[in-house]
Amino acid sequence: MQALEALHTRSSFPRLAEPAPNETQLENICKAALRAADHGLLRPWRFLIIRGDALTRLGELFVQAARADADDFSDAQAERLMNKPHRAPMIIVTISSPSEHPKVPEFEQDLSAAAATQNMLVAAYAQGIGAMWRTGSMAFHPVVKKGLGLSSNEKIIGFLYLGTAKDATRNIQQVKPGDYFQVW
Ligand SMILES: Cc1cc2nc3c(=O)[nH]c(=O)nc-3n(C[C@H](O)[C@H](O)[C@H](O)COP(=O)(O)O)c2cc1C
Repeated sequence: MQALEALHTRSSFPRLAEPAPNETQLENICKAALRAADHGLLRPWRFLIIRGDALTRLGELFVQAARADADDFSDAQAERLMNKPHRAPMIIVTISSPSEHPKVPEFEQDLSAAAATQNMLVAAYAQGIGAMWRTGSMAFHPVVKKGLGLSSNEKIIGFLYLGTAKDATRNIQQVKPGDYFQVW
């Protein structure tokens, strides 16, 4: 797929199944992340690739986090959280890992990590791989952050769910550039 076509038509795919991206496709996705705009070339990011049994371990971490907040936590709630990571055969966690810099504030470094995530979405789509960027309360939970090995200055920018789209196409809402762009 041509770059402009991918940029103009990309959409998210919430319903994902096996197979996960193969090693070549995954490498293309990773390389796309690393070409995100990056003030000062600080590489203010790192990524965790989660698949197989690690998806179950992530579900267990979600349950542990939710249990830490609520005593009256039902088995049904636990099962729902356990299943969340299994909505796709692979998840890439984008972590913003900012460093002190006199000219590049932390906010800009977070933006670079977000840009890397968007690049991965487009690289997935361009290769026919379904993807969806998710966060939710678990992305901000201290138990999840600790369990994934984040240090105190790091943030989860997103969980990028990747796999084979169960739904072939999605109707994307047509938005007119003129509604958002004005000549100043
Ligand atoms: C930072 C960020 C976090 C998001 N978190 C969620 C989420 O937790 N759950 C969800 O349904 N969509 C989430 N979304 C939105 C979807 O990824 C998606 O962009 C949205 O459903 C619109 O679909 P589209 O990408 O096909 O236009 C998030 C998007 C961003 C940028």
